[in-house]
Amino acid sequence: MKVPFAPPRMDQRVIDEVADTLLSGWITTVPKTKKFEKLLTAYCNVPNVLALNSATAGLEIMLRWFGVKEGDEVILPAYTYSATANVVIHCGAKPVFVDVGDDFNILPSEIENAINKNTKVIMPVDFGGLPCDFQKVNNIFQSENIKNKFVPATDVQQQLGRILVLSDAAHSFGATVNNIKTGALTDVSVFSFHAVKNLTTGEGGAIALNLPKPFDNQSIYDYLCIYTCMDRIKMHWQKMQKAIGVTILLKPDLNVI
Ligand SMILES: Cc1ncc(COP(=O)(O)O)c(C=O)c1O
Repeated sequence: MKVPFAPPRMDQRVIDEVADTLLSGWITTVPKTKKFEKLLTAYCNVPNVLALNSATAGLEIMLRWFGVKEGDEVILPAYTYSATANVVIHCGAKPVFVDVGDDFNILPSEIENAINKNTKVIMPVDFGGLPCDFQKVNNIFQSENIKNKFVPATDVQQQLGRILVLSDAAHSFGATVNNIKTGALTDVSVFSFHAVKNLTTGEGGAIALNLPKPFDNQSIYDYLCIYTCMDRIKMHWQKMQKAIGVTILLKPDLNVI
């Protein structure tokens, strides 16, 4: 039996959309990316979503945003794709592997034993699209005993006052738990839209921001736009809008900024 390797569905609507983009005069980030972000934000019911080139980039960017560095530890499941651990190493921190259960997801009962004063982040993975038991995972980090072990080293860490839950949701876009979509199940979730994922952009990823108060997810989104693009694209886009009068080349519904 021949089992094809996750062939993406390509129909006329996809072809038309790609042709429309190619002929729009704008083939890099903005404006369709911004429209995509708005759709993802509404679909996941989270404050903000940032689209990127990959989940790997999204995970590393969020570790860096949280100030993860040498001497820090990040807890992740022993069974995952290499990217989950690589991004921790890229930041100079130590990946701490915790065993998985029969569903291949991290065992919440094992997480507590792996936490110490160096632990800054936990990265659960929704393996095969099945969300982790976030109720249990989130409860661990809300407990006073675990909060007391947290040693903040940056303003952002101080503001959160506990370990960050950064969900590697590379496999689980569209999954729900009690009618809540992945993305809205914990602090931050990162999706992959790589060719073999259930929603694909060829290569791609997104960060769903769902941080609790006092964080302002919109300001974090604005910061990440600058951090990931050095604000270059926006500046070009704004310059072009000024030069040509906003929507000469683009359809009005794409004018999302
Ligand atoms: C669990 C997991 N995390 C992260 C990634 C990385 O995704 P991307 O290829 O979008 O960087 C993958 C890719 O397959 C994955 O399976």
